[in-house]
Amino acid sequence: MLDKINRIRAEIGNFKATTQVELEEFRLKYLSKKGQLNGLFDEFKTTANMQKREIGQKLNELKGLLTETFDRFKEEIDQHAAGAASGNDLTRPGDALSVGSRHPISVVRNEICDIFRRIGFTVAEGPEIEDDQHVFSALNFPPEHPARDMQDTFFVTRNPDILLRTHTSSVQVRVMEKTAPPIRMIMPGRVFRNEVVSARSHCIFHQVEGLYIAENVSFADLKQTLMFFAREMFGEQTQIRLRPSFFPFTEPSAEMDVSCTCGGKGCNLCKHTGWLEIMGCGMVDPNVLDNCGIDAKKYSGYAFGMGIERIAMLKFSTKDIRMYFENDVRFLRQFIPAM
Ligand code: DAH
Repeated sequence: MLDKINRIRAEIGNFKATTQVELEEFRLKYLSKKGQLNGLFDEFKTTANMQKREIGQKLNELKGLLTETFDRFKEEIDQHAAGAASGNDLTRPGDALSVGSRHPISVVRNEICDIFRRIGFTVAEGPEIEDDQHVFSALNFPPEHPARDMQDTFFVTRNPDILLRTHTSSVQVRVMEKTAPPIRMIMPGRVFRNEVVSARSHCIFHQVEGLYIAENVSFADLKQTLMFFAREMFGEQTQIRLRPSFFPFTEPSAEMDVSCTCGGKGCNLCKHTGWLEIMGCGMVDPNVLDNCGIDAKKYSGYAFGMGIERIAMLKFSTKDIRMYFENDVRFLRQFIPAM
């Protein structure tokens, strides 16, 4: 008898049922009136008294095992059937979630920030609604400077002192006011200008500002930093050129161009010049340092500022800046990173 019990135990150890029919077969074979379990109990009646105790125990164990196995598969099969009845096929593979993408402006901003982070710059931010002091006065704009004009600046109230920042250079001022040199920071952010929206300019756009203030900072440091940036951003072969320019807050000032990928052979993007202007820069004017409470005799520094849309347009060959603001998914989908 013990052999029979062990054989059945081995059989049910491997048993699996996924349908009602299979489960019914199991029941008939082992648990029904004429099934093997009852057969064993009948046989048990004729067992010698000496063995009754041991075999009885094994038989009861087998009974427990058989009913437990039956119940377990019954529950599984019933649950599955309920799922199917509700219209859900629980064995179907899940629906693939459609993955969103970062906005191309965020992609480029993050890339710019990462490049400067690698050479020790940290990120600072400032308010979009500003005052005249931080956007213009502290940056050495004379009172009659045309950049303050109603044409360019959005004023928030009738009070001309409260306005939307027209550039991220305002964050330079805020950083310098509360940080003692050395300062090595970049300042990404959104800026606003009262301009007609066209393919080339928008009334809202994004800039990244850079500022380095320490002892003995020279124009050569600025040039080296910008060269590093240009090559990381546009590739190893990129050349840069600095053209003299004017900004009220830097002296000397320059505009930086990067070499066009056409090599100057003739392309519309660089208008056949071979160069693309990407940012303004210069040595921070000592007046600005003084205005912000930094000793201009001890410290010097450089600053630079670039438009993120401009860099994105060059990088992704987009011809219309408005695409970055329209949120057309056909445009944005192109920036979904490959999985
Ligand atoms: N603020 C300037 C603009 O909006 C860009 C700029 C030029 C920033 C020169 C600077 C700089 O920090 O040194 O056009």
